[in-house]
Amino acid sequence: MPAPAASTPSATVATATAAAISETEAGAAALIETFRRAGQGHVFAFYERLDPAARRRLLADAAEIDLDEIARLSATLLGPSGAPAINLDGLAPAPYEPLPENGGDPAAWARAKTAGEAALRAGRVAAFTVAGGQGTRLGYNGPKGTFPVTPLKRKTLFQVFAEKIRAAGLRHGRPIHWFIMTSHANHDATEAFFAARAHFGLDPARVHFFRQGRMPAVDLNGKILLETTSSIAMSPDGHGGSLRALARSGALDLMDREGIDTLSYFQVDNPLVRGIDPAFIGWHLLRGSAMSSKMVPKAYAAEKVGHFCVQNGRLIVVEYSDLPKALQDETDPATGRLRYLAGSIAIHILDTKFIRRAAAGDSGAGLALPFHRADKKIPTVDAAGAPVKPEKPNGVKFELFVFDAIPFAENALVIETRRADDFSPVKNAAGLDSPQTCREDQLRQFARWLRAAGAALATDATGLPSVAVEVSPLFGYDEDSFAGSWQKLNPKPAVTEGLYLE
Ligand code: UD1
Repeated sequence: MPAPAASTPSATVATATAAAISETEAGAAALIETFRRAGQGHVFAFYERLDPAARRRLLADAAEIDLDEIARLSATLLGPSGAPAINLDGLAPAPYEPLPENGGDPAAWARAKTAGEAALRAGRVAAFTVAGGQGTRLGYNGPKGTFPVTPLKRKTLFQVFAEKIRAAGLRHGRPIHWFIMTSHANHDATEAFFAARAHFGLDPARVHFFRQGRMPAVDLNGKILLETTSSIAMSPDGHGGSLRALARSGALDLMDREGIDTLSYFQVDNPLVRGIDPAFIGWHLLRGSAMSSKMVPKAYAAEKVGHFCVQNGRLIVVEYSDLPKALQDETDPATGRLRYLAGSIAIHILDTKFIRRAAAGDSGAGLALPFHRADKKIPTVDAAGAPVKPEKPNGVKFELFVFDAIPFAENALVIETRRADDFSPVKNAAGLDSPQTCREDQLRQFARWLRAAGAALATDATGLPSVAVEVSPLFGYDEDSFAGSWQKLNPKPAVTEGLYLE
């Protein structure tokens, strides 16, 4: 194992400044000329009237753009019919490793847990949260991780993850590094949020923030859209951009120096996630998998999750929007269950060498993630430079999806998890996957743990307790760790409204 690095001067992984090119007059002229030759000269239509600071801003945006990539994407994704429909030839549901209660081998699950615990004790595992999304559906203005979610203490998503990571580090005798991918829009606010809260008790030298990349939006003819006369309409390049951002930011180098070869990936919207799950880590390592995933059986046919499938012998994820309804509705005649049952909950483990290959876009191995097209209403300017707020989609954003790496991963693996233990995202302001449903799922989990440990607590038929209680991840973050802490309490507290166990 490589020697640990000398302590990093700042917990922030340095981000390369793309704007160096625009720092001289000659550099600026050359950049503008490149845009002109690529048919994107309109980006500088207002350049002559801008003051020096505004010019620098525009040049810095422009310097981030790979014009060849934009030309390629416009040629392939902007045809009249949009993105090519997904090829369904030979598509079949993916196999997965079932839980012991659903027919899985209890001894194999126990071996996996032991292997995962050993990897944690050896310091080989880091946590990774993708938190660069724009969170538009929730209608919340700050970084999504700063949204309060727990039932009593109103802890934020970031605090819940921080406490789980701290608890896992304490349990395995090895503090865990945590990588957090932000966007340009929320990076500073995210760092400031952690700093103001003393990183929730984590060692700041083990919490690493880095920005994801950006892509320009284009109009339906492939012309790059200006947001204002002095800025390009740039947006995050999708969670799949995390793989290149991990490499570019120096995060992978840091992991190499620290002896970390296994990265536990989860989304910022899901406080139930067991961000550090020894059995999952162990399955991944014992199978020699380059990228592993968790599935839950879909709750109903139209549930908006990706589907694990196989095609030409490779594991793939097909988004809900891409899998025809007829296939989503198909049932298995023998069991009556959905045939495309395995829903992706966006929880993965990745091998760091595999991330490096994916980040390099290793085309020799065919490992280049495809961009997806999303049609959007993109605020822009008209020919005179006046702001335009479009009523209907006027352009296209390009995004990478992390699960598109799965087909390239050696021994890619899917394991089953219980939804109640791993998945209750906050996506919408109300209704499905909202703060309300997530709060209730947390309450059900705390109630299950209490009852399993022998405490008396009334619940309704869905398992929702009659009183609101909350458990700190430092007290218990799964049934076993909870039971351990509960046994030690003497006397036991009464389980009444407002009980907080810490
Ligand atoms: C996603 C998955 C879906 C899965 C579901 C589970 C896609 C296209 N779909 O749906 O297969 O079943 O989650 O909850 O991903 N993010 C970034 N940078 C970006 C874009 C997103 O960091 O540029 C992060 C967000 O902060 C969030 C996560 O990625 O943590 C998910 O993004 P979101 O766009 O909300 O995905 P969903 O459509 O909800």
